[in-house]
Amino acid sequence: MPEYMTAAIDDGFDQNARDAVYRAMFTRRDVRSHFLPTAIDDDVLARLLLAAHHAPSVGFMQPWNFIVIRDIERRERVRDLFLAAREQELPAIETEKQALYRKLKLEGICESALNICITCDRQRSKGSPLGRWHNPEMDLYSTVCAVQNFWLAARAEGVGVGWVSIIEAEALKRLLAIPDHVTPIAYLCVGRVSEFASKPDLETHGWGRRLPLPELIMSETFSGQGEAQLKSTVARLNSVSAAPDTTRPPDQGVAPAVPQREPPKEASALSLSSLNFDDASASRASQAGSGTWPAMVLK
Ligand SMILES: Cc1cc2nc3c(=O)[nH]c(=O)nc-3n(C[C@H](O)[C@H](O)[C@H](O)COP(=O)(O)O)c2cc1C
Repeated sequence: MPEYMTAAIDDGFDQNARDAVYRAMFTRRDVRSHFLPTAIDDDVLARLLLAAHHAPSVGFMQPWNFIVIRDIERRERVRDLFLAAREQELPAIETEKQALYRKLKLEGICESALNICITCDRQRSKGSPLGRWHNPEMDLYSTVCAVQNFWLAARAEGVGVGWVSIIEAEALKRLLAIPDHVTPIAYLCVGRVSEFASKPDLETHGWGRRLPLPELIMSETFSGQGEAQLKSTVARLNSVSAAPDTTRPPDQGVAPAVPQREPPKEASALSLSSLNFDDASASRASQAGSGTWPAMVLK
């Protein structure tokens, strides 16, 4: 890892660096399809693991381990666990959504180049539970931070990551010989991909949509009203118009760019649900580079 990437030389990120960070966040995708039959270089994988290992952790506990799973027979057994778990989950899904649930592609265990199981060792610093005396689950959250670092770094490297949680944890532990005191946190399918979709698969297939951020912001207490100015600013960012997508034909189901709107005067006067940020336009605009999204947002 070049030293300039790890040494805090100064506090500032220039505009390109800021753009890159936001671009990774806004264009990261959970990937289950589009995996290519291409190996991942150990150099690249090492960088992703190093990024994960630099995640924050409670009491600097670093409770994670990374099990790299390449063997296809083992992966087939994990996929069998997924298939069984999916059948068990199905009855819990609303009846009218069950047909759609069955059609969704929810894993890429065998198609991806390799799998990684990120685990949390709950006893790694059991003698000194700094930050975990009242909240023992903080080690689990720390491990999730490592997963997110891995996911964002992978996006920057052009590597797709898909998180598979539809697996019975105890069965997975047996299959991967994970000890009792260690919890599997994330089972990830990892590989080079032909493309990153412009919006979540579950949105494309009509399962859900991104919630309007202003409706999720509260003031001072849970459900507290207020922060009109902040909500208005958030809503204005949502309405940032993106550059037209010249890379995809219109029949690929990409939503049109959000039309430019006047910045709202008062958040209370808004129909907030109409101000949902559009992932497709965020993605296109971020690919268009500085001066559009996110650069103009960050000024
Ligand atoms: C904890 C966690 C578990 C997930 N489990 C699954 C899963 O089992 N199968 C799947 O297809 N996607 C899974 N996902 C991916 C989500 O469906 C995805 O993040 C969400 O639809 C938003 O899409 P995006 O990640 O592409 O923005 C999981 C994501 C998280 C954070």
